Amino acid sequence: MSHPLQDLQSAALAEITAAADEQTLEATRVKFLGRSGSVSAWGEQMKTLAKEEKPIVGKLLNEVRTAVTTAIEARAQQFRSRKESGALAKIDISLPGAPHEIGALHPLTQMLERSIEIFRRMGFALADGPDIEDEWHCFDALNTPPDHPARTEQDTFYLPDGRLLRTHTSTVQIRTMQSAPPPIRVIAPGAAYRNEEVNATHSAQFHQIEGLYVDQNVSVADLKGTLEFFMRELFGAETQVQFRPHHFPFTEPSLEVYVKSKALKSGEQWIEVCGCGVVHPAVFEAVNKARGDKAYDPEKWSGYAFGLGMDRLAMILFDIPDIRLFAQNDLRFLRQFA
Ligand code: PHE
Repeated sequence: MSHPLQDLQSAALAEITAAADEQTLEATRVKFLGRSGSVSAWGEQMKTLAKEEKPIVGKLLNEVRTAVTTAIEARAQQFRSRKESGALAKIDISLPGAPHEIGALHPLTQMLERSIEIFRRMGFALADGPDIEDEWHCFDALNTPPDHPARTEQDTFYLPDGRLLRTHTSTVQIRTMQSAPPPIRVIAPGAAYRNEEVNATHSAQFHQIEGLYVDQNVSVADLKGTLEFFMRELFGAETQVQFRPHHFPFTEPSLEVYVKSKALKSGEQWIEVCGCGVVHPAVFEAVNKARGDKAYDPEKWSGYAFGLGMDRLAMILFDIPDIRLFAQNDLRFLRQFA
C-alpha cells in the first residue's frame, strides 16, 4: 500500500504534466508548494506524528517536495524555450542583412593627402594655426597696412570681439616663425574665409596649403623648382608651369603660378593655382619684434612662401565644374570619388 504522500506526489506530477500554460502551472505550484498547499500542510502535520514515524515521513516529505519542485521547474523551462523558438521562428534568416554603407574620403581630402605626401618627400613638416585669428597675424605681421582693401568688412568676416576668420593660411607663416628659429621648412594645410560673392569659382570658405621655407641663400629658383616638381607630381610629367609677376604685400618679388596640361580636361587652358614669392624683409622684422630677438635677421636669412588653392587644384585634377559641389554633401557627387 502506498503512503498518502506518494499519492500526493503522483497527483502533483500528473497535474504538472497536464498544465497547458504558465498560469496553470503557477496555480499547480501554489496548490502543492504554496504556504497553504498540500505539501506544506504535511509539514505542519509532522508535529502530530509519533516519534518513530517522524524521520521516515520527514524523509519522504523531502523527497516529494524535491520531486514536485524539480518537475515544476522542468515544465516552466519547457514553456520558456517554446516561447523563444516561437519568436525565433518569426525571423526569416534567409533575408539579406542590413547593408553597411562604406564611406570614402572627400575629394578635397584626397587632394590634400596627395599634396602633403609630395611635400613630405621634399622634407616639409606640417604646421598648424587657428581658423579664428587676430588682425596682427592675418595682416599687420604680413606687411599689410590698416588701409589695405583686404581688411575691409566687405572682404573679411570679423567677429564682434575684433578677431576674424583668417583670409589666408599665411597666418601660419607668422605663427611658425614666432615659435621656432630658422631654418624652417613647413606646409600648413587649412581652411580660409573671405566674404565672397559665392558662385561656381568662388566660395566663402576655401582651402589652402601654405608653404614656408627659410634658410640661408633661398632664392626664387628654389621656389620655382619646388613648385614645378609639385605640379608635375600631381598632374603628370607633361604638365607645364608658368610664373607670372604679381603683388602680395608679404613677398617681394611676388608671383602667380599657372599650370597647363594636355592630360587634364582643362587641356590648353592656363589655370592659376598658387600665389607665392620671396618672403618680404618686413615680415621677418615683424616676427623679430614679436619674438624680442633677431632670430630672423633679414641680412642673414631668406625664404620663400606659397599659398596653394586646394579647391582649385582638386577642380582641375578631378574635372569638377563648380566649387560649391564640395560643400553640398550630395552623395551623387561624392560617390564619384569613392
Ligand atoms: N596668402 C596669399 C593668398 O591667399 C597667397 C600667398 C601665400 C602669396 C604665400 C605669397 C606667399 O592669396
